[in-house]
Amino acid sequence: MADTAQLKIGDKTYDLPVIEGTEGEKAIDISKLRDQSGYVTLDIGYKNTGATKSAITFLDGEVGILKYRGYPIEQLAEKSTFVEVAYLLIYGDLPSAEQLKNFELEISRHTLVHEDMKKFFDGFPSGSHPMGQLSSLIGALAAFNPASLKQSLSAEEVNLEIIKLIAKMSTIVSWIYKKSLGHPVIYPRNQYDYVTNFMHMTFGQRTEEVEIDPVVVSAMNKLLILHADHEQNCSTSTVRIVGSSDANLYASISAGISALWGPLHGGANQAVIEMLQKIKEDGGDTDKWIAKAKDKNDPFRLMGFGHRVYKNFDPRAKIIKKACDDILEKLGINDETLEIAKKLEEVALHDPYFVERKLYPNVDFYSGIIYTALGFPTDMFTVLFALGRLPGWIAQWKEMKANKEPIGRPRQIYVGATDKNYTDIKNR
Ligand code: SDX
Repeated sequence: MADTAQLKIGDKTYDLPVIEGTEGEKAIDISKLRDQSGYVTLDIGYKNTGATKSAITFLDGEVGILKYRGYPIEQLAEKSTFVEVAYLLIYGDLPSAEQLKNFELEISRHTLVHEDMKKFFDGFPSGSHPMGQLSSLIGALAAFNPASLKQSLSAEEVNLEIIKLIAKMSTIVSWIYKKSLGHPVIYPRNQYDYVTNFMHMTFGQRTEEVEIDPVVVSAMNKLLILHADHEQNCSTSTVRIVGSSDANLYASISAGISALWGPLHGGANQAVIEMLQKIKEDGGDTDKWIAKAKDKNDPFRLMGFGHRVYKNFDPRAKIIKKACDDILEKLGINDETLEIAKKLEEVALHDPYFVERKLYPNVDFYSGIIYTALGFPTDMFTVLFALGRLPGWIAQWKEMKANKEPIGRPRQIYVGATDKNYTDIKNR
């Protein structure tokens, strides 16, 4: 492979270094292009632009491969737990038994949130979207952890904030749900593992002991693992660029939550279920809705379909689709929206419009069906995506800081008005 690319502009030729990653990805390093040539590149939406070099997650969108720190997602989803995968992403490799035990113990010490945080919960109007609440509450954690605002924190101090955030996010997510019901919140019980504790805080009752079904815990572990990281997607890029200004961890993650909220990104899992329910109420005519998705004059898109980088099956969608069948069977649930989803997938995968554009089901297409089976309301789905993505955001933020990356500041090409002079308002 050539180690330089040559760019010819007019009568000048510029040599640009070529780099290759450990999985064979290649890039032209343009970090000195403007100094050399006066030119910048333009790539709206960064479809062809690498923002960083990362050792956390690798995905191959053409083939449908996803690996966390080199481990295939299929193996982790089958054999690991969410806390173990969080350790893998954040610290770089799978933990020993002792390391995992200490990690879980540390987390269990920080699951409580300051009682004054309840005033924030009480301040939200009933029915306010859980993602807006979550973004605000996670940002507010900085107020209760002023040490996190200190500049140049030591590695131990950063790690403590990471542990606190992982611990408190599950408590905050469950309390958002409880408050939406008008129910009293349930405090963490640290004899439970992380996911069981979360499910207990979410679905437990203060008036009676509630047994959390291990089948449900296993499905939740799998879902959280599948959402844990996805290289430089919209919300992760947001976390990195906010963190690059030396903003604290809570502010950076709060920004990532806001980016994830959008229906083109993490908000798609809620939009998929709303779409499936609309098709069901409309009589289940999947051909009609496929036609709408293809009609350029119709704003309707087949939510949960298509992806910026997967131009083949999203490997997570395959795993979630199978988990859907398993969990619905184990829980004895017959969900008509799953049948509609499978019909949509079947039709779309043979329709030239979708085939030509390489539009396949993505992680959001089936996840909402499992969340519904586990008892979550639709507007909590994206919050669950955020809970799963948290260790990935943290790992990416940590890597950006460790690599001492500069503050993110893209360039632009100005196309606005030029040479204007101020005129008195009387003359306009
Ligand atoms: C996530 O980046 C990540 O990794 C994200 C994520 C993660 O883990 O962090 O994987 C999570 O965000 C998954 C994606 C969830 N979003 C949705 O399911 C929303 C529906 N999908 C789309 O809106 C769309 O596919 C995107 C936003 C996901 C990707 O859009 P792109 O890459 O910008 O592609 P595009 O919009 O330019 O579409 C290319 C063509 C267009 O048609 P033409 O102009 O070529 O005629 O495909 C069409 C689009 O109109 N198209 C769709 C479609 N998605 C794309 N047409 C109908 N239905 C769709 N869902």
